[in-house]
Amino acid sequence: MKFNDSGNSRVTVPAFMRRKSGDPPLVVLTAYDAATAALAEAGGVDCILVGDSLGMVVLGYENTLSVTVDDMIHHAAAVGRIRQRALLVVDMPWLSYHISVEEAVRNAARLIQETGADAVKLEGGSERVGVIEAILNAEIPVMGHLGLTPQSVLKMGGYKVQGRKDSRAERLVDDAGALQEAGVFGMVLEGIPVALADRITAAVQVPTIGIGAGPGCDGQVLVIHDLLGLLPGKVPKFVRQYADAHTDLTAAVSTWVGDVRAGRFPTDEESYS
Ligand code: KIV
Repeated sequence: MKFNDSGNSRVTVPAFMRRKSGDPPLVVLTAYDAATAALAEAGGVDCILVGDSLGMVVLGYENTLSVTVDDMIHHAAAVGRIRQRALLVVDMPWLSYHISVEEAVRNAARLIQETGADAVKLEGGSERVGVIEAILNAEIPVMGHLGLTPQSVLKMGGYKVQGRKDSRAERLVDDAGALQEAGVFGMVLEGIPVALADRITAAVQVPTIGIGAGPGCDGQVLVIHDLLGLLPGKVPKFVRQYADAHTDLTAAVSTWVGDVRAGRFPTDEESYS
């Protein structure tokens, strides 16, 4: 058995929690396979999230509601085989924690056992307290997710900024307190006004990780396909694109197509004698 002393620099849940001050901010990035996990690790992120956004950016669904536990395991296991230093968190997909507490614990345990992940993330506020406590009771760390929760897209009527009305903002502050009380080690705040994210960040003792929630959170998360511009089309206001991978990679593919059609590929150097 190996003890985790100073020789092991992997980010653990307690180490993640100690970064509450947000100085420097925690950096979280999604990954869904070996290539994206290798990019996240090489870039030096603190935490890799295998988000159920994989339904949209990898599997081509319109929303996240079709993603299954088996889908998450298939992708998270690939990320788990590549991950070295970053904390690895896996999303619990829709309906994997809504039917019963027993099912939720069993699904959370599968996501840990079959992928090598360190923690699970689930969406929702005070209505999830029972499930969170049961998963924690099985010794599995849980990250919360409040605000624009994509698994509630049908109820929200689309992907809309949440908490702009005072009553809804108060509810989100209460939800953040309930998640903290239940024992989450951190929480994603998605698609809420900056002032509300700042208020929640000041009110809770666990790190808040923002996406479309302004600069005041203890950390930031982005979907890697958005950051790299891997897919064509417009990205939301809160995304900063650091590359135009779709355009650059399309040029590479079409150059190869042209080379094959013109007989320029392969050359003798690219062939075996
Ligand atoms: O599924 C996901 O990628 C997420 C992040 C956007 C936080 O939950």
